[in-house]
Amino acid sequence: MAPAAAATVHRLHRHRLRLLLMLICVASSELVAGVHGQLDSVGFISIDCGIADGGGYSDESTHGLRYVPDAGFVDAGAGLNAGINPPYTDRNMAERYLTVRYFPGAGAGAAARGGCYTLRQLSPGGRYLVRASFYYGNYDGAISRLPVVFDLHLGVNRWTTVNVTAPDATYIFEAVASPPADFLQVCLVNIGMGTPFISGLDLRSLKAEIYPEATVKQSLLLLNHDRPTARFAFNRYQFWRPATDYKIFRYPYDPYDRLWQPYGDDSSWTNVTTTAAVDVSNISRSDGPSPILRSAATPANGTRLDFSWSSPEDDDRPPSPSTGNGSSGGITYLLLLYFAEVQRLPSDAARLFDILVDGAAGQRRYAPKYLSAEVVRTTVQGAGQHVVSLVATPDSTLPPILNGLEIYSVQPMAELATNSRDAKAMMAIREKYELKKNWMGDPCAPKAFAWHGLNCSYSSSDPAWITALNLSSSVLNGAVDISFGDLKSLQYLDLSNNSLSGPIPDFLAQMPALKLLDLSSNKLSGSIPPDLLQKRQNGSLVLRIGNNANLCDDGSTCQPKSKRSKRILAIATAAPIAVATLLFVAAVVILQRRRNKQDTWMANNTRPRSNVFKNRQFTYKDLKLITANFKEEIGQGGFGSVFLGYLEDGSPVAVKMCSKTSSQGDKEFLAEAQHLTRVHHRNLVSLIGYCKDKKHLALVYECMQGGNLEDRLRGEASTAAPLTWHERLKIALDSANGLEYLHKSCQPPLIHRDVKTRNILLSGDLEAKIADFGLTKAFAGDLMTHVTTQPAGTLGYMDPEYYNTCRLSEKSDVYSFGVVLLELVTGRPPAVPVAGDDGEMSVHLAVWARQKLSEGDIESVADAAMGGAGYDVNSVWKVAELALRCKELPSRERPAMADVVAELRECLELEAARAMRWYGGGGSSCSTTTNNVSAASVDALSEAQVGELKQDSVLELGPR
Ligand SMILES: *[C@@H]1O[C@H](CO)[C@@H](O)[C@H](O)[C@H]1NC(C)=O
Ligand SMILES: *[C@@H]1O[C@H](CO)[C@@H](O)[C@H](O)[C@H]1NC(C)=O
Ligand SMILES: *[C@@H]1O[C@H](CO)[C@@H](O)[C@H](O)[C@H]1NC(C)=O
Ligand SMILES: *[C@@H]1O[C@H](CO)[C@@H](O)[C@H](O)[C@H]1NC(C)=O
Repeated sequence: MAPAAAATVHRLHRHRLRLLLMLICVASSELVAGVHGQLDSVGFISIDCGIADGGGYSDESTHGLRYVPDAGFVDAGAGLNAGINPPYTDRNMAERYLTVRYFPGAGAGAAARGGCYTLRQLSPGGRYLVRASFYYGNYDGAISRLPVVFDLHLGVNRWTTVNVTAPDATYIFEAVASPPADFLQVCLVNIGMGTPFISGLDLRSLKAEIYPEATVKQSLLLLNHDRPTARFAFNRYQFWRPATDYKIFRYPYDPYDRLWQPYGDDSSWTNVTTTAAVDVSNISRSDGPSPILRSAATPANGTRLDFSWSSPEDDDRPPSPSTGNGSSGGITYLLLLYFAEVQRLPSDAARLFDILVDGAAGQRRYAPKYLSAEVVRTTVQGAGQHVVSLVATPDSTLPPILNGLEIYSVQPMAELATNSRDAKAMMAIREKYELKKNWMGDPCAPKAFAWHGLNCSYSSSDPAWITALNLSSSVLNGAVDISFGDLKSLQYLDLSNNSLSGPIPDFLAQMPALKLLDLSSNKLSGSIPPDLLQKRQNGSLVLRIGNNANLCDDGSTCQPKSKRSKRILAIATAAPIAVATLLFVAAVVILQRRRNKQDTWMANNTRPRSNVFKNRQFTYKDLKLITANFKEEIGQGGFGSVFLGYLEDGSPVAVKMCSKTSSQGDKEFLAEAQHLTRVHHRNLVSLIGYCKDKKHLALVYECMQGGNLEDRLRGEASTAAPLTWHERLKIALDSANGLEYLHKSCQPPLIHRDVKTRNILLSGDLEAKIADFGLTKAFAGDLMTHVTTQPAGTLGYMDPEYYNTCRLSEKSDVYSFGVVLLELVTGRPPAVPVAGDDGEMSVHLAVWARQKLSEGDIESVADAAMGGAGYDVNSVWKVAELALRCKELPSRERPAMADVVAELRECLELEAARAMRWYGGGGSSCSTTTNNVSAASVDALSEAQVGELKQDSVLELGPR
């Protein structure tokens, strides 16, 4: 494959930034195509961004380098493809400039990664040339919106700003980088000045020796300043003097495919050229001579060559403070001068010159070697103009020459990436569960772009590591991926509220730093690894595994409580102000009627699947046995005591005894009983069985180890730690889910009618379930309201509209739930004692809270037990405001439970982001989500309050 002269295409209309296609008229040798994300046989990756997947081709202009589509490199689903538009679809443009991938949508407001390319299978610490190119070509038909400005990142550090001002200009940026890991990412960052796009991305493996200045700690960025007589902004020049032709040399003339452009016309310079081969083995790969250095500049008349460059005032924006490499005054340039004598000198001739930089001697009496290339490297400090002079020594008979030059700026890679083990685990997790979020580029760095749901620890000298991962409610499917186990520093892993299935894997027990593992509300099955149980047992791990229907042993038991803490283990009972109804009576009556075969209700019902009959029937003797003769009383209901019991298989149950019989058994009541027995939801407490044995009536429920919410919030006997805001939000969300199920998923819909903190029960790992359906009522499916004869409920929670009109709708539950939310926020009971004109009096919690909130006083509203900084202020505001909306009059103004669920979910995300920052400790913060106050909640607040919110969110960003 003899190098041939490059045939070039001459452009009549000249634009200084215009890239002209260099056609090389040599039969192309097909190179083995690179697999997605990997190097090809010459150690290159050549990506034509924006072409269809599968559409690779061999590029003529580079002797057949294989260009591949970008689908395998860019994050799945990131960006869109587009072709450039006429008249820019110039036939003479290289094919890679005809399409782009663009990244719309990201970066509303703050800067955000638009998309990232990951180049894989590299050698950690190896050296690579990376080239990104951009040709706008009116691809989006929005040419009038130019300029488009966005940032380019190399790994986690800012590389440069791409400022696209001309539709027909090609912007090319090159860098030499040494990635710390076996992959390198190039990211486009939306800075709010237009949609980032990219035409091409190349990576070239370099021989380790050739750019030793590029290290893991610093990259070399090819200077990208315009020179008046050069066509492109990149500063790598050769001195093949252009007459009418214009040549850019690249592969195969440069084995690394660096782009060399002509220096441009300069009348005081001329050229000396050889046709002989120049040995480049000392500066390059030893695979052959290169034409690039066969021509040299030399003064037309005189004894010196001078050239200069200056860093323009607008030289990039100051680096972000976190990179800490100071102002442009701290710029360091690396200047590489290439020399090879191209003339055979007679014995009496000599070419000797001094190399001066800014007037100071760099190298004295330098003599280029005949047909052997050398490079002289000089570091130049500081901003402003720099002058390089090659000055013939007095005894030299020939003027100086210069064959080529490059100018780089040396960019410290101050921002450290996530350690590669964590980063790769996260990428594998992202791939496995097809997660989108903002998960692009490096997981932890730069801090401003850290992936949502992560908490990282940063250090100035070591790569970041991941301490917390929240993938709660992230629609995860399938098994728990093994990559989680690679997150060796992870302390907090929340996988709750997903659809993970299969067994709980053993490797979770081997995660050395793990302190909290939440697997609750998934579809996991099988048994819990003993190692995990042991960690839980010895207190080194908080393990949450509730609501996994097929998990055969949840490892928790209702331990009999001491007398003092009896109240913790309780089963709530209705304390209605009006109708006293008891579910178990219904069960009994149903049973009796059925036995008597007189049950017309059953016969007439089209959907007779009443679980009362599937539920287990206990005799009084059974109950005596399982409660060890009613030994352990764990609560006191309105109609009798609740006892702890254990079934034969050891599972704990709560046995609610009825101390008196009731003959109340009207049809309506029977229907209610039927509804209860057919509801099954993880946030509704479930009935295990009943007892109807002569006068003994009892219900057997699942045991709720955490007691009821009222006791947990205010119970003086409770020894448990105060609930955190995160726990409160989860409880709120669970309960709201249960209510939403009653309202929306039951046919006919059910209204609980007695929603209150006492009727929200907690499992050992604080999963909340709605209990006590004694007052629950069905309302005809198509009617929005239902008139009941007698309103029922609990004072303080009861919807005044319902009370006054007897018109029942699901919005009455919403009202009561609003009170529950306020209790969760404030920790206070529905009636708050206040000092009035005539001494001590009580006001309703809602009135009190509304007053405080209107003063913008969130601190006095939020429960002090949560701790001053123990919550995300925005989410507390949001919940308080939601609670008040739940209590609106008329009731149609109230949100539906589905809306409540959605808002609580958002609040939980806000809090989870904050909690994880906190949980990770170590003074780190991911300043990502705290100022995400939803527009809706901001609307509802006064301007002054919004001001305060902003202040708070700023405070959130600071290190803790
Ligand atoms: C982009 O370039 C244009 C023309 O040189 C200049 O006026 C503008 O200030 C630049 N914009 C940015 C953000 O650098
Ligand atoms: C200088 O370059 C021009 C154009 O490439 C060429 O025609 C000429 O021969 C060169 N001069 C020398 C001395 O090699
Ligand atoms: C390469 O450099 C070495 C050491 O500087 C020198 O001995 C050798 O002659 C050089 N080779 C060529 C081909 O110039
Ligand atoms: C070379 O320099 C001399 C003296 O400065 C001048 O007279 C002459 O015209 C110059 N020649 C060219 C080709 O510039």
